[in-house]
Amino acid sequence: MSDKLEFRRYLVDIDSISSSQLFTDCLIIGTGIAGLRAALETAEHRNVIVVCKGNVKDSNTFKAQGGIASAIDETDSFEAHTADTLKTGCGMCDEEVVELVVRQGPELIEQLLGWDTEFDLSGSRIATTLEGGHSHPRVAHAHGDETGRIIAEALIEKVRQNSKIRILENFFVIDLLTSNQNKCMGIIGRNSRGESQIIWAARTILATGGAGRLYRETTNPEVATGDGVAMAYRAGAVLRDLEFVQFHPTTLYIAGATRALITETLRGEGAILVDNKGRKFMKDYHEAAELAPRDVVSRAILSQMRKTESTNVHLDVSHFDKVYFAKRFPFINELLDSFDIDIAKDLIPVRPSAHYMIGGVKTDSSGKTNIDNLYACGEVASTGLHGANRLGSNSLLEGLVFGKMAGRAVSQSSKATAAHLKHPLIKYQIPHSDRTRLDTDDVRNSLRALMWRNVGITRSSQPLAEAQEIIRFWQRYVMDKVFDSPEGWECQNMLTVSLLMAQSAQKRQESRGVHFRRDFPDCDDERFKKHIEISREQ
Ligand code: FUM
Repeated sequence: MSDKLEFRRYLVDIDSISSSQLFTDCLIIGTGIAGLRAALETAEHRNVIVVCKGNVKDSNTFKAQGGIASAIDETDSFEAHTADTLKTGCGMCDEEVVELVVRQGPELIEQLLGWDTEFDLSGSRIATTLEGGHSHPRVAHAHGDETGRIIAEALIEKVRQNSKIRILENFFVIDLLTSNQNKCMGIIGRNSRGESQIIWAARTILATGGAGRLYRETTNPEVATGDGVAMAYRAGAVLRDLEFVQFHPTTLYIAGATRALITETLRGEGAILVDNKGRKFMKDYHEAAELAPRDVVSRAILSQMRKTESTNVHLDVSHFDKVYFAKRFPFINELLDSFDIDIAKDLIPVRPSAHYMIGGVKTDSSGKTNIDNLYACGEVASTGLHGANRLGSNSLLEGLVFGKMAGRAVSQSSKATAAHLKHPLIKYQIPHSDRTRLDTDDVRNSLRALMWRNVGITRSSQPLAEAQEIIRFWQRYVMDKVFDSPEGWECQNMLTVSLLMAQSAQKRQESRGVHFRRDFPDCDDERFKKHIEISREQ
């Protein structure tokens, strides 16, 4: 069987005559930091519609705790930030992109400050802290561990004040519409009234975020189901490096509770990992101990869980001053309070979970994809910044920089106006199938468990092959259906992206960055210092 997914181009029937239609210069899909920043930049010269499938606040950005990395401290330098990013990326970063992003950081953070983002200050300067892999404290934060919420709220406010930007919430984008000439013409989706709607757009920017929900254990919100990657794949976009999925070492692990992130900046400020016997163990695995790269810490935790036959390890923060802790980490403090965890005497139960999709839709340095008029930025994109591993807190920075650059490219393109839209009539009909009745919740749960087991923190050939076989089996009776609800479309998207991830992970027969193969534990520069790209046969 071919390792490409051969299935239909669109998930639903399309009839452009009977669908309600909107027209815009630029359509942006997603309201995380990248989408919002892109909207503000695009609106300098163009009209913009921003859509999101839930509430405008449902994003990974909103949940971000640690902060945003940038060389803003006098004693820091662009060279040091660049070197740390390149080192963490294990030979797979695009050096030009790294420099470009790193150098724009201070100015864009200053701009956020000017837009009423209340960063925490040290004296009159923005305070910075440490995370693993950074040679310097360069992680700026806001309201302690609520950096994402504070940045997102400031950007949302700014977007809402802009008369050229219209936000449509509860709008599920089903597919990108493309012409036979490989041009993106907009999207087909379902609006908040439950009607089929086409938005014709001179330019479209994908900023749909990540895919943590493909895994049973994740820090990501429910919206992170990989829709952007799946729809871009169906449209013929080149996807890159999907095997690189970052697992965060410390997610709160209490049965039945949501898997909330426990920020790495806690370890940056002295929290210690201990096993269920109360023993510190990180020095056994890496000289940087608690501040070793995330992939090292995640695997060390798994190994220690196995050795001690336990379901989790713990963070010990009992040496923190309680008043300081509550002020510096208010979100976590409240969360722990709600489970009656007293940091002075109780340990915090944690274990790793899926956190960030490093691979995604391949772009150039302005966010442009291989499909004309289609851009991608933020977590959905593979820009070349992260390589094989992402330095903590570089993702908000990337979203900010690439959001701005994609927005600028659209705003300055002379033909990016609705007046230039030429759209054909589209009629696309899918043969009806009533093979089997489906419980999509069951498929999703089974898929998430399978991905966690077989395409998780450590991988090897046989489980990866088994995952592909099982996903293909599920696809046979899920992909032939025409759903009329987001749950169904998400399920189809999740199957698509999961299979592509498993295929990419199978192809990379080495261990590099976040991708660890038990059967190929070494890095193999000779065969694999290259990207793995996938695109659908047209
Ligand atoms: O641990 C954290 O606060 C996560 C930061 C990040 O993923 O960049």
